[in-house]
Amino acid sequence: MREKVFRKVFSDMDRVQRVQEFFAGRAAGWEVRFPDDGPSYARAVVDLAVQRGDTAIDVGCGTARAFVPLRTAVGPDGVVLGFDVTPEMIAEAVCLDRARLGGLVVADGFRLPLADASVDAVFTAGFLSHAAPHRGLQELARVTRPGGRLCVFHPVSRRALAARHGKVATNEDPLAPAQLERDFLATGWLSELWEDGEDRYLALAVRGECAESGKDERDV
Ligand SMILES: C[S@@+](CC[C@H](N)C(=O)[O-])C[C@H]1O[C@@H](n2cnc3c(N)ncnc32)[C@H](O)[C@@H]1O
Repeated sequence: MREKVFRKVFSDMDRVQRVQEFFAGRAAGWEVRFPDDGPSYARAVVDLAVQRGDTAIDVGCGTARAFVPLRTAVGPDGVVLGFDVTPEMIAEAVCLDRARLGGLVVADGFRLPLADASVDAVFTAGFLSHAAPHRGLQELARVTRPGGRLCVFHPVSRRALAARHGKVATNEDPLAPAQLERDFLATGWLSELWEDGEDRYLALAVRGECAESGKDERDV
């Protein structure tokens, strides 16, 4: 058991380090590379159906591009929090004045500093593509109240995203509908809507009622 725990700690350190190495040098000017995405983020937040007064989180928030529509949706009495494991991304978000719209935290999305069932809506764009989605979804399920909502989003299609990384999208990709559906079910999420077309990638899911449904044999 102790060996299993050590293995998990070290593999987590590797995972976090790989993500940070990849994104640290890309943080400055991140949004300059994607100047036309604003309306697409706003539309995804509308689809997530965030309500006024909600606590909404953006996991893998990067420069917090989604903060403007999230703040508009929750209104002045709601809470917006962004979590990213790459400090340079959070620093860039601060430079872009996003901290006036919500809290920005350097944290691993697989270990969020949030209480169980404390969140109404989860926005993610790019977070689940950087690791096996199962564990990420499990942690998002832990922090989300039953009936709370999740959006897995990318402003371009899965095919365009794969091409950006020199790959070809397949039905075996972690975010391919059949694969993600399996992970949703295993981690306590009920899928509600899929858009895996040419325009954007969007999967919406609702947190099921059973608090223990996020646990399975892959847990240590
Ligand atoms: C493709 S970028 C997208 C950033 C932002 N969501 C956007 O749409 O512009 C992916 C982001 O996820 C962050 N990330 C990846 N794995 C993470 C993890 N385990 N915990 C927190 N952030 C993570 C990276 O640091 C990076 O900023």
